[in-house]
Amino acid sequence: MTEFRFHGAASMGEGEIRPFQQEGKALLLIRQGGRLYCLDNKCGHFGAPLATGKLTQGAIQCGVHGIAFSLETGRVTNRPRERCRPIGIYPVREEGGDALIDLPASAVS
Ligand code: FES
Repeated sequence: MTEFRFHGAASMGEGEIRPFQQEGKALLLIRQGGRLYCLDNKCGHFGAPLATGKLTQGAIQCGVHGIAFSLETGRVTNRPRERCRPIGIYPVREEGGDALIDLPASAVS
């Protein structure tokens, strides 16, 4: 794991979704319930960007076919029988107004 600092995360409001790239990996930072979540910005179904999806309670729903992924686990929450991979979820903590995100070394090297 490698720690990545996302500057200015403290300014994100409730329900805000911020897509970003880190070393070619498409990611999302989301604030919900006062907490920050970091996840892949790539649907586990056919790879659409989740940044254009809809945030629901505890999940983000892809705008293409409507599959929702848990912000906590990355697993599908609404269609358990659909052939769909879970998405990557990365631990986040806040420090000094920034978000510190633990990413796999492959995402930052
Ligand atoms: S591409 Fe996201 S649900 Fe199909």
